[in-house]
This record gives sequence, structure tokens and C-alpha cells, in this order.
Amino acid sequence: MRRAKPSNSDGKRIELVWPGKTCDVEYAEAPLQTVEIVEGHGASGKGWRNKLIWGDNKDVMGALMAQLAGRVNLIYIDPPFGTGAEFPLATGRHNGGEGRGRFSGPAYSDKWREGMASYLQSMYERLVLMHRLLSDTGSIYLHCDWRTNSALRLIMDEIFGPRNFLNEIIWIYGLGGSSRRYWPRKHDTILWYCKRRNKHVFKPVLVPATSLRMKGMDKKCPDCWEIAAINNMAHERTEYATQKPEALLERIILSSSNEGDIVADFFCGSGTTGVVAERLRRRWIMCDTSRWAIHVARKRLLEMGEASDCKQRQVGDFEIQRVSNGNLPPWVDEEAGTVQVAVRRDPDCPRRVAIELTGYRPNAQRQAQLTSQDLGHWSEYLDYWAVDWNHRGDVFGNQWHSCRTRGNPKLATISTWHTYDKPGSYNVMLRAFDILGSETATVITVKIP
Ligand SMILES: C[S@@+](CC[C@H](N)C(=O)[O-])C[C@H]1O[C@@H](n2cnc3c(N)ncnc32)[C@H](O)[C@@H]1O
Repeated sequence: MRRAKPSNSDGKRIELVWPGKTCDVEYAEAPLQTVEIVEGHGASGKGWRNKLIWGDNKDVMGALMAQLAGRVNLIYIDPPFGTGAEFPLATGRHNGGEGRGRFSGPAYSDKWREGMASYLQSMYERLVLMHRLLSDTGSIYLHCDWRTNSALRLIMDEIFGPRNFLNEIIWIYGLGGSSRRYWPRKHDTILWYCKRRNKHVFKPVLVPATSLRMKGMDKKCPDCWEIAAINNMAHERTEYATQKPEALLERIILSSSNEGDIVADFFCGSGTTGVVAERLRRRWIMCDTSRWAIHVARKRLLEMGEASDCKQRQVGDFEIQRVSNGNLPPWVDEEAGTVQVAVRRDPDCPRRVAIELTGYRPNAQRQAQLTSQDLGHWSEYLDYWAVDWNHRGDVFGNQWHSCRTRGNPKLATISTWHTYDKPGSYNVMLRAFDILGSETATVITVKIP
């Protein structure tokens, strides 16, 4: 176990207290285990592979500390807002009109056993670790709302120091209802702090000026940002609750980091930060406790630029990891369901094969969790599948995939052709993620003459 404390704890500071507050943050440096390597258009250089990590961010940050303390250039986090709610995820919506299989389960929970005290202690510990990970030129954007912004501002002052406060950004998003008892709440707060005053990266974004004096000119974007929330029809919408718009992350990443910098989001949800960082040529790390979040983020990255097979993948290589501290179930659940597959061979080219999915069924107990049993076709149980053409018994290499998305809701049941360079016997591994949230694996041996 290691310990961390805010660096400015000199006994003279003003601080927020809550029942059970402790400033000593214990963390473990448990190793990360790679469970999948997604082969995109190549590595991002500098001996680095982008990372999507499944696990509690305290464990994840502990695991990253030895390698990355003082090296992360930008952090954006959008943690649960202390709402006391459970956020649902409804799957089976993207089945191209044919889908009637439905499953509703929790995507993530924002319930706190000891109420606000446990929320604040949890945030405090994580923010101390983020402070350690940030580089001297780095900065952090902490997204919150009226419920916790006052408490989090004081905690940030305590950990980062009030001198390193930069802005309280108001994100005006427009959507949502209103009350008869108070003004409609239409904004979130984003607190921006740097690690070392005046050393941080800042390249202000310009927006059209509105005053008559500056008509037709641009001005520095002020600290109120009017960026539309994601509407029901938006292309980027994933159905992951509380997803933030890419335009918001674009502004943050463009203004506060350089190409090649490491951008981290330790509460990544649907993966908005990684998708935008990837597009803007930053390196990235994302993590989340929700297996759904990791799956949605993986799909989003794989489908960047509407690509649908590995030859056109527009994402660079990235790895999916998990903390190997024993608190998580296995990545692949062999018992979750049964996959049936067949190998197709190209009659004109004996070294060319394709894999056909011929059936899938979740086990009976899991199948009973579906809110609608009325499936038109067995493939409606599946949200995604992927193939490693030459699995050598170690990490799964994701070389081809098909998945349901808003833009392309049909799942291909036959892969594209794959040509082997040499004759031999190859183990092909196939992984499938079903609409109930489990991933299964199957291996078949293909003999190439
Ligand atoms: C508000 S959502 C983030 C949404 C995200 N910004 C997006 O655009 O999709 C908060 C996320 O934090 C995750 N989360 C909550 N506690 C966590 C923890 N201790 N470690 C890692 N992730 C956590 C939840 O599972 C959830 O996906």
C-alpha cells in the first residue's frame, strides 16, 4: 500500500470537513492486465498504446502511478453528480427495425451509502491521485452541477491550491425541464485548475463577437459556453446516460493540450474524451467501472469515421485492460451463452476464409432477464462480435468486428475475407458481446493448405 496527501497540507489552510474525512490516501500499485489489443491504423508512437481500462479509477490510477506520475498533460472528468440515482441502459434499440429483444439494466449507479460524506471522501481520494498524475504544465477540468459544485470547489482548492484555480466555466446546454418553484436549471459547472500557476497550456478558442463594436470579428471565448446537449437524433448519441457532446470536449482538448499529449478521463462513460482526443491526435487513457461503458466506448472508437472493418479503421491501436486485483469478474464469461460458427472458404483461393456466425443463445437464466422475449432472429441477442485470425493463446487481437450503431444498426453475420500468407493450422478466436452485457469467446481451428 502507498500513501498520498495533498502537497499543500501545512495545517493553515481553509478546508471543507465531512464526517469521516481522512486526508491520507492509500492506494495499491496492482498491475494492469491486457485483455484485448485493438489493431487500428497503427500505434501512436513514443512506445505508447492508448488505453481503455475497466475498473475502479482509484485502482486504475494506483496501477498507472509508477509509470505516469507527473506525465499526464490534461484530465477531464465528469463524475457522478451525487444525484442518488441509478442510471439505466436500454439495449436492443439498434436492431435496424427488426429488433424486439430488449434489456434494461443499470449502466452505472450514483447512490452513496453514507450520502454526501462518502461521495466527497471518494472524490477527494481520486482528486489527490489525479493531482499526482498531472504534469507541471498540465490542467484538470472537473465537470459537476449545482448539487456538488460548492463542495468540490473547496476540495479542489485544498488539493490544487486556490492559486491554481483558473476558471469556473458555465456550460449552458439548453435541454431539460423547468420548475414552478425556481428558475430552470440549464447549466453545468466545469472547474478548471492547473498544477503549477502560469505553466499550464492555454490556446484560447475564438468565437464570433456579438457586440456592435466588434461586429464581424472574432473574440476570445468567454467562460460561459453555449454548446447544445446531445439531442435524440444526434449522430453521436450512444444511449449511454449522461453522455456529453463531442463539441464540449473538443473545446477543452484543443485549448489545453498539444498534439501527442496524454489526455485522461477517469470516469469515461461512453468514451467521448477518447474519441475526441483520438481525432485531435492526442494520446489517451480512459477508465470506467461499468462494463457497459467500456463496451460502448470500444464500439465508438472502432466505428470512428463510419469504418466497418479493420482495413478502414480510423482509430489507432489501443489496448483494453483491467486491474488484476481480483475485485472484478472475468472479462470473458464462458458460461454466458453459446456461439455457433462455420468457416467459409473462397473456392478460388484456398488461403482465403471468412467466419460465419450461425447461431447464438444466452444461457436460460440470462435470457429470462430480457424485457421482451419476442426476437425475430437469434442475431438480435448480439450487439457486437470480433475476430482474431491467428490467436496464439495470449491476448485477443481484435482484427475485424461488426457491431450495431445508430448509423448502422445491422449486425453482419459473416466476416470479410481474410487471406493467410502461409499454409498451417490457425486458431481463430471469436468474441461476442450480447445485449445483456456479457462477452463470450469461442476458438476454432482452421487448416490452410
Ligand atoms: C457522468 S458519467 C460520464 C459520462 C461521459 N462523460 C460521457 O460523455 O459518456 C460518469 C461515469 O463514471 C463512472 N464511474 C463512477 N464511479 C467510478 C469509479 N470509481 N471509477 C471509474 N468510473 C466510475 C460511471 O460508471 C459512469 O460511466
